[in-house]
Amino acid sequence: MQAMSGGGKAHSMYRCNNCGAQSPRWQGRCSLCEQWNTLEQIQSATPMERRRRLSYEAVATREISQISIGSSPRILSPFDEMNRVLGGGIVPGSVVLMAGDPGIGKSTLLLQASDFLTKTGGRVLYVSGEESGEQIRLRAERLGINGDGIFFLSETEPEIIIEQLDQLDPVLVVIDSIQTMFSRDISSAMGSVAQVRDCARRFMDWAKRRNIPVFLAGHVTKDGSVAGPRALEHMVDVVLYLEGDTLSAYRLLRGVKNRFGSTNEIGVFQMGGNGLQEVSDPSQLFLSRHGQEVAGSVVIVTMEGTRPLLAEVQALCTRTVFSQPRRVAAGIDFHRLLLITAVLGKRLGLSLSDQDIIVNMAGGLTVSEPAVDLGIALAMVSSFGNVACDPWTVAIGEIGLSGEIRSIPHLERRLHEAAKLGFRRAIVPVTQGDDSSRAELEVLEAHTLTEAIRAALPDYLNKSEPAMVGRRRP
Ligand code: TYD
Ligand code: MG
Repeated sequence: MQAMSGGGKAHSMYRCNNCGAQSPRWQGRCSLCEQWNTLEQIQSATPMERRRRLSYEAVATREISQISIGSSPRILSPFDEMNRVLGGGIVPGSVVLMAGDPGIGKSTLLLQASDFLTKTGGRVLYVSGEESGEQIRLRAERLGINGDGIFFLSETEPEIIIEQLDQLDPVLVVIDSIQTMFSRDISSAMGSVAQVRDCARRFMDWAKRRNIPVFLAGHVTKDGSVAGPRALEHMVDVVLYLEGDTLSAYRLLRGVKNRFGSTNEIGVFQMGGNGLQEVSDPSQLFLSRHGQEVAGSVVIVTMEGTRPLLAEVQALCTRTVFSQPRRVAAGIDFHRLLLITAVLGKRLGLSLSDQDIIVNMAGGLTVSEPAVDLGIALAMVSSFGNVACDPWTVAIGEIGLSGEIRSIPHLERRLHEAAKLGFRRAIVPVTQGDDSSRAELEVLEAHTLTEAIRAALPDYLNKSEPAMVGRRRP
């Protein structure tokens, strides 16, 4: 089982082709991702090989101050929104992973970008392992692209693709998608971590060597990570997510990783009859759904992994017709709903015991973090008192049992996102930090739920007796 080669024992290692975890022994089930039968044998280098490799790679060390900064100009894509997310345009020699659900519009966006780059006289190679030339031509026609300068290759083997690349000398390369690439040098199945990683590595090497940008399209699995290869995210220079509901026309292009710029940027697009168009005033997106002031509706900012996301929480409080009032939580934790109900009853004296309470996250979203507590509480008070909250205010914060608003992580990032989408006010926990993003919108810090209600729903206080809010019941 153990191979002898070049002066030393090679150690057998096993790697999970689902998550990439390594193990010195074979196991039926990966101890990290708990998938069955995913471990494959790999050969690790012998000590001699390792030494030899080291001597190859030993290049001179340099002081950072002595490294010259190449001022290679950025290549502009047709969309300002996309350029902004990329940190000012496409960096030559960079590898960009364009990730998203199937059918969201990755191929469309990449084809539109390809067409734009040919306008300056360059050639673009569009490699598809998924679609035929005819399909691409049909899509191009729909997009009003005549296809001059875009060269198409239906191929899945990186070796052959790279041969073609060297001949064509393009200004941009699109690989659609990285999951369909298959190298014969690797024994694992198509789409496995080993395959995806190895193929991506080859394209990266080529991009760096030739200083030509490469876009990789990548499909995302149900749990939201790029299919199998989370490993890919570490390798590439830029990771962009194209997101949105396939049933609605809006698409968000979000930077998740960017070696050449900030990752806090999002670009907003709209899918129309002739492809993706930029939406220059993204707050419209929320206006359309969230136009007028409605009692029981509050906008919150939640974190999806490292990404902030704005969403709307809706609450309905109505007098019950049952002997036991009902509590319904859709998209939020049921126990959080009970906790918030109890706090509102005890600390603010809201008489909710004869009310059916229904809380729902709009758009079928599920939120599990406590930072949405404040939004839920305000939505409930808003519905209970039948007064609307300002539609351009967001509420962020965890609620403690004594009615205090507790701090939450990533506050600045959330505020930044809210400001970007056109929100004007935010009600947040008290923090010690000072920050630049606060200049972008009015930030109201609330110590307690009472203060938050005073800021968000002043009309509620005017309506109810003043003693009701802020009074502690024995
Ligand atoms: P596509 O780019 O093929 O998605 P992906 O590569 O991410 O899988 O987009 C396919 C969807 O976009 C498909 O449902 C049709 C729609 N579409 C439009 O609405 N308008 C258009 O002009 C084009 C080209 C596609
Ligand atoms: Mg596609």
